[in-house]
Amino acid sequence: VRPPLPADFQSRKGAAPLVCLTAYTTPVARLVDPHCDLVLVGDSLGMVIHGLPSTLGVTMEMMILHGQAVMRGLTRSLAVIDMPFGSYEESPQQAFRNAARLMAETGAPAVKLEGGQHMAETIAFLTARGVPVMAHIGLTPQSVNTLGGYKVVGRDAEAETVMADARAVAAAGAFSVVLEKVPATLAGQITRDLAIPTIGIGAGPDCDGQILVIDDMLGLFTDFRPKFVKRYASLGADAATAIGAYADEVRAGQFPGAEHSFADTAPQPKGNRS
Ligand code: KIV
Ligand code: NA
Repeated sequence: VRPPLPADFQSRKGAAPLVCLTAYTTPVARLVDPHCDLVLVGDSLGMVIHGLPSTLGVTMEMMILHGQAVMRGLTRSLAVIDMPFGSYEESPQQAFRNAARLMAETGAPAVKLEGGQHMAETIAFLTARGVPVMAHIGLTPQSVNTLGGYKVVGRDAEAETVMADARAVAAAGAFSVVLEKVPATLAGQITRDLAIPTIGIGAGPDCDGQILVIDDMLGLFTDFRPKFVKRYASLGADAATAIGAYADEVRAGQFPGAEHSFADTAPQPKGNRS
């Protein structure tokens, strides 16, 4: 089977809900691949993996390195790579140069970029030149400094702007659009209005699909718990318990035991790794 293309994903609007997650490494890509329709190498990796205070410090090199790692772990999900802050906003030409580099150096068949009406020209420029684009509207974290925080976007009078953004990116040729932290009713209206799939994060149940940051839904850390994240595991707490047990056993002289240690002479015919 050939890997899925953005057009396949786009054509699945209106069928079963589309399942999407982020991944940043090969082993996690292998874990999510059997279950997902789309895997995003999100620039959330700046905060989640690299400890940055926002996504603004994420570089092309970081996206390429993690994009390559994720691509090694995917066989059946559509891969999408985020364009980092500063790599596409200046001009359609700058966006094309960097999108082409992301695709060429990782093998991913699509990119995602943030912005609505003001990015429509760039989305059209990219799609006309062979770069499938996933749009991202509502809360756009790369604009945290102008938005003034990670607040809900699209309440009251702002709803018209978000609807106009959605229509603009769809008309420009985006194959799908992420709706982040948009009121649920508005997200449903956008979903019914557009011919392309909407993928929600904090945008309620009426989108065509859902996405979460993998580390958030696995509960890998405990200091960030937005309302829209559901924790399906507590891997951070499990890891802390395991690390504590290891530390205790090393300090008590209980680890390593004989079963983790090597004898003076090789064990004879079994052929185990020595
Ligand atoms: O960077 C990211 O993980 C994202 C998703 C949350 C949509 O953009
Ligand atoms: Na992102």
